[in-house]
Amino acid sequence: MLSRLASRRILEIRQAFGQLPQPSRSFSTALNYHIDNPDNNPGIPWEFSDANKEKVKEILSHYPSNYKRSAVIPLLDLAQQQHGGWLPVSAMNHVAKIVEVAPIRVFEVATFYSMFNRTKVGKYHLLVCGTTPCMIRGSREIEEALLKHLGVTRNEVTKDGLFSVGEMECMGCCVNAPMITVADYSNGSEGYAYNYYEDVTPKRVVELVEALRRGEKPPRGTQNPNRINSGPDGGNITLLGEPKAPPCRDLDAC
Ligand code: FES
Repeated sequence: MLSRLASRRILEIRQAFGQLPQPSRSFSTALNYHIDNPDNNPGIPWEFSDANKEKVKEILSHYPSNYKRSAVIPLLDLAQQQHGGWLPVSAMNHVAKIVEVAPIRVFEVATFYSMFNRTKVGKYHLLVCGTTPCMIRGSREIEEALLKHLGVTRNEVTKDGLFSVGEMECMGCCVNAPMITVADYSNGSEGYAYNYYEDVTPKRVVELVEALRRGEKPPRGTQNPNRINSGPDGGNITLLGEPKAPPCRDLDAC
């Protein structure tokens, strides 16, 4: 009998090859497996740029020389930033060589953490939070608005290579739900940014996309003009005065 994992892989492969419709809800990465193709195979040479080679040295210096493998996450992150937001198999092999482990040890990390993309993404990779608080506050409508406006399906890249839309689980910003993150790979590892846009609406996310397309950097954080950071909508209505110190701390009054 097939294990659940094997059945799931077969299902994913059949969906990827169009034998079955795509699921209405997928995971945060496009694929959980690798199949060699002309754009992504171990025969394609890959190495860090000269500027990033210095960063690699600096990253490795944080760990004892017999624990180089501890640097695998920051090195994969740097490789992804350099490579326009995704990790080809040769980049993962290169990292394995640097930290002196078998490539499978690096693949295990890259496939576990959803911030590592193993297929191409747009220069701006838009990640919609799909966890309960954001879902209750309308994240499905946010995603629909983005996909419709950009004319893509989830994890597909727009023809101009600028945008892709993925999904992430809770990004710790539930108080300002719903929210999206924009992973900005438009300026390589030097200009890399990962910004939260919170309290978004379907209309606002489309405006954000168009601002990014124009090369603007829209202000991150809450998009609700009536809130300051995570403060109450419309301003404070309680605890308006200066807080009084507890009496036991007023030493003069004792
Ligand atoms: S549920 Fe969306 S940030 Fe927590």
